[in-house]
Formats: sequence, structure tokens, C-alpha cells
Amino acid sequence: MSKTITGFSKLSKEEKIDWLVTTFFEKSSSAVHILKQYWNTNQQLQQLHDEFTENTISNYYLPFGVAPNFSINGKNYAIPMAIEESSVIAAASNAAKYWLNRGGFKAEVLDTQKVGQVHFTFQGSAEILKSFFSEVKPKLLASVAALTKNMKKRGGGVLDISLVNKTEALQGYYQLHCTFETVDSMGANFINSCLEQFAETFKTEASSYAAFNEELPHIVMSILSNYVPNCIVRAEVSCPVEELSDSKIPDGKEFAEKFIQAINIAEIEPFRAVTHNKGIMNGIDAVVLATGNDFRAVEAGIHAYASKDGQYSSLTHASIDNGIFKFWMEVPLALGTVGGLTSLHPLVKLALQLLGSPNAKELMKIVAVAGLAQNFAAIKSLTTTGIQQGHMKMHLMNILNQFNATADEKTAMVKHFTTNTVSHSAVVDALETYRS
Ligand code: MEV
Repeated sequence: MSKTITGFSKLSKEEKIDWLVTTFFEKSSSAVHILKQYWNTNQQLQQLHDEFTENTISNYYLPFGVAPNFSINGKNYAIPMAIEESSVIAAASNAAKYWLNRGGFKAEVLDTQKVGQVHFTFQGSAEILKSFFSEVKPKLLASVAALTKNMKKRGGGVLDISLVNKTEALQGYYQLHCTFETVDSMGANFINSCLEQFAETFKTEASSYAAFNEELPHIVMSILSNYVPNCIVRAEVSCPVEELSDSKIPDGKEFAEKFIQAINIAEIEPFRAVTHNKGIMNGIDAVVLATGNDFRAVEAGIHAYASKDGQYSSLTHASIDNGIFKFWMEVPLALGTVGGLTSLHPLVKLALQLLGSPNAKELMKIVAVAGLAQNFAAIKSLTTTGIQQGHMKMHLMNILNQFNATADEKTAMVKHFTTNTVSHSAVVDALETYRS
């Protein structure tokens, strides 16, 4: 039987499921039931989700949790996080509480510049192209007047366009490198519309530019860049080393020194840096997702930034200066609090309300703090108790659920494992003993 189809997108949801199930599943399979059990009984809500993307056949749930007790620049937040991984929200909450009594988190937006490029080729004289560009630049800017009108009213627009000669890296390759301010929107549609208009105007003007003779520029493509090293936020915590002590840290100075060693390792060792930064992204992605932003864009931009000096490295840094421990991170974050899902998805709207309806700059600070907190919690665990103790404790429910533990069994197991180390086999043994 053929496993391909034409016109799949034209089928109704029921028909799509029917084709998938008869083509890819056994007759006895519970696929239909599984898909449909995630359908929302609220038709309007379901339709909203169906229309977010194409060929929707069900909804994919992620837990939506909250990490309370964050103090950021003196303001308290309960941060919404959408994430499936056990222990991430617990770790964020622990770090928030830890720093709540040590001055809280400080965060500052350093810049908010977005980037887009028109990529083109040109085989003629670079000098003539340069002259053409200076003549055409005001026309390029004027050609997007209608597109930028509303953005300008909100304080944004096109910041600049420059001509970049990349012919040494790739024969005949040039760019219009364009910078934008998109205020509270992530700005992808705005930027891409401007770029396509720049490309059109550039092409039209070039066709009547006498000095080009036969050699005309050829547009390859126009697209925003998710690499935004100048849309950047800094998050930081600091306190005197002796104040770092807590129930798990007998000696603040010793802890700080080991902590810094762990950061230094991630700064010079890519294998460690990737996992180190993955932990940071546990916090960042979860808030980005909960607030309806594009986590793939954020991931791509941040990992590129982590390699900006030629080798993939730690995003966080730490120091002790005059007895003060300082731990900080600078990350690029192109986020929006208007547009996209932010006014459509009911949970996204709620998440933003929970954060006090932040503007994009405030959201950048909150997201960066969530990343820094996550890394602090990970390094604190790794350099003291080890990661598995906390991680397995949080993973206990998943193991119990794998064995269909009842509510009574869960209560008994949680009690048992408050004083015993969680491992998969230890849970199996304890559950078997309890059941018998
Ligand atoms: C797990 O999701 C994240 C950690 O591996 C991060 C780290 O090693 O720093 C714990």
C-alpha cells in the first residue's frame, strides 16, 4: 500500500487521521483514541490551535509551571515556564529563593538592534557598486515609508543599511546589511517585508543605472538574521563570598572557588560548554515558549553568540573581586511582547499578565535571569551534591507513572525516597516490596 498522498492538506481533520491510521498503524491500534483524547472540548479554543499551523490533528501538551520568588532589579516575579524536563522548574525556584536573600538578580538591556540582509551577487566593479549604493540608499529608505509608518510611531524603524563586500569569502557575493529597531515586537515579518522591498527597489534602480553597463546585481534572497549580537541583555548576581554559605555550602569561599573553576572549564572546553549552555537554555527556552516567542530563533542566535570568539564557549562567567562573588551572563535575545502568538494563545496571554505585562526589554531581562538562575542551580549541584540527587528526586514521579503507581503507592514512595537515594532500580525494588 502506498504511503504517500496528494492533497492531504485539503482533507478534513477526521479524514487526515483516518488516512494516517489506516496507512501507518495496525487495525487494533489506539492511535485514534490517543489523538482525540487531546482534542479540546471547547470548539473555539480547539479551532484557534488548529489554525496556528497546518495539518493539525491533535494538541501536544507541555507542562506549564511557575518558578516563584525571583527578584529582578528589586521587583518580584513568579516566572512561567513551559518545559517537560523534571527538575528544571525546581532548580529555577531554588536559585530564585537562594538569591532572594542575597540581593536578587540585576539585569540590564545593553542594546536592541535587529538584523536583516539582502544577499546578492555582482560581477562588475566594486567601486561602481559603491557609488550606486550611496545614490540609491535614500531611495531604499524612502521605498519602505508605508511599511515603517506604524513602527516609527512606536519608536522603531530602519536604523541603517550598509553595503558589505564579501567577495573575498565568496566570489561575487555582496550584502545589504540592514539594522532595525522593532520595539516590542520580535519583528520578523516587519524586517522581512522591509528587506523584500529593499531588494525590489535595489533591482529596479540598478536596471536604469547607466554605469553598470551590462553587469547588473542579481538578488539571491532577502531574510532577517537570527544572529543578533547587538540585541543583548546582561543578567547578574553578586554577594560577598562568605554570604554564599547555606545548608549545602559550609564554606562560601571554597564554594565560590570551585564554582569559578567549573565556569572556567566551560569557557575553554567545548564538550563541557555545550552541556553547560544547554542547562542555561533549559531556563531560557521554557520562558520563551511560555511567553509565545520563537525558541528556535533564540536557540540559534544564542549558540552562534557562544561561538563569537572562534570557539564555542560558556555563556556565563564568574569572578571574585575584593571578596565579592559575581556571576553574570550576556545573551542576545530577540523577543516580542506584541504580535505573533502573544495576543492569540490564551496561556501565552496569561503568562505575560503573570509577568506584569512586560515590554520586550523587560521580557529580555526576565528570560536572561531565568537562564542565569538555571545555570547557577546546575553548577551549584554539580560542584556540591552532584546533579543526580536532585534530578532523580524530581524524576521519581515519571518512574512511578511508568509502573502505573496508584495515588497511595505514590504517597508511600515519595515518603520512602525522602531518606533513600532515587534510582530506577531502587524505585522498582521499593514499589515491588510495597505491592507485595
Ligand atoms: C540538564 O538538562 C542540564 C545540565 O546538564 C546542565 C549542566 O550540566 O550544567 C544539568
